[in-house]
Amino acid sequence: MKILVTGGAGFIGSHVVRAYLAAGHQVVVLDNLSTGRRENLPSGVRLEVMDVRDPKVPEFMAQEGFEVVNHHAAQMSIPVSVADPMGDAQVNILGLLNLLEAGRKNRMQRFIFSSSGGAVYGELKTLPAQEDLSPAPMSPYAVAKRACELYLNYYAHEFGLKSVILRYANVYGPRQIPQAEAGVVAIFMDALMAKKPPVIYRQADMPRGMLRDYVFAGDCARANLAALERGQGIYNIGTGVPTDSLTLWETVQKAAGQNLSHGFGPARPGDIKQSALDCQKAALELDWRPEYDLARGLAETWSWRVSI
Ligand SMILES: NC(=O)c1ccc[n+]([C@@H]2O[C@H](COP(=O)([O-])OP(=O)(O)OC[C@H]3O[C@@H](n4cnc5c(N)ncnc54)[C@H](O)[C@@H]3O)[C@@H](O)[C@H]2O)c1
Repeated sequence: MKILVTGGAGFIGSHVVRAYLAAGHQVVVLDNLSTGRRENLPSGVRLEVMDVRDPKVPEFMAQEGFEVVNHHAAQMSIPVSVADPMGDAQVNILGLLNLLEAGRKNRMQRFIFSSSGGAVYGELKTLPAQEDLSPAPMSPYAVAKRACELYLNYYAHEFGLKSVILRYANVYGPRQIPQAEAGVVAIFMDALMAKKPPVIYRQADMPRGMLRDYVFAGDCARANLAALERGQGIYNIGTGVPTDSLTLWETVQKAAGQNLSHGFGPARPGDIKQSALDCQKAALELDWRPEYDLARGLAETWSWRVSI
């Protein structure tokens, strides 16, 4: 298949690009390199340095005739979305519409979208969350992700566009940068490299820190591969296992074979207490299950971290 991967020079997108190439697909990457890097791409992959909002996107897509668009490009910082909701919506909502309008007038048959389970569900009373839970987005970034899901629903009904929405948990793995939305693994590994004790944020009633579902980027890439052939609608992509921040820090140290002290700090405004995703729907309909547990995923990520 001929596939456009937007944001393919970024962290998760670069794993998706590799999975698609390994399966024999033709891949073109569209990325403005705002957080992504050319070096994240395997050699020989065509990179179109372009913004998803660019008025030239329709012309580019008409010339190329992609069968599938896999959309990973995004403004993905929650604090940035809070400081500049309009800027966030321009990239995350209008960028999506630019691709959808261009694609539907060309050969596009399928659209794969990276949403966020952590953001869209909001604060959870019970874990893990299933896809039919009412969304409760708590930031402009989360509102934009939910709006994108609703637009895809509209395009499915109105134009018959098949779309697969992957609501990721907290993704970690090689090529993640510490500044990212969910970059705590990268932050902890940087702390070990610099021998600088990290701060673990926690709420008063959660002494070991917040609970998150950590899913390995290679597993997310496999979900994107499955989504080429199967599925329609929303799928959680995580492990279902909630891990507190202190356990994560201990497991990172174990993977690295190192010991370092840490500090504690108060949770930041907007930090949700707990999140984990039920992924049975993806197992049933996409035939996808996570293959990496935290220890294995962190060991692989640490090997990459010390190699760069
Ligand atoms: N990392 C996570 O844990 C996580 C969790 C849930 C959802 N997501 C979603 O997954 C996607 C990829 O996230 P990531 O962690 O790989 O982040 P990333 O920042 O590494 O990747 C985003 C890529 O998009 C590119 N980009 C940004 N704005 C662009 C624009 N206007 N035009 C063209 N390209 C642009 C960047 O240069 C970068 O290469 C995002 O949509 C994000 O919201 C990530």
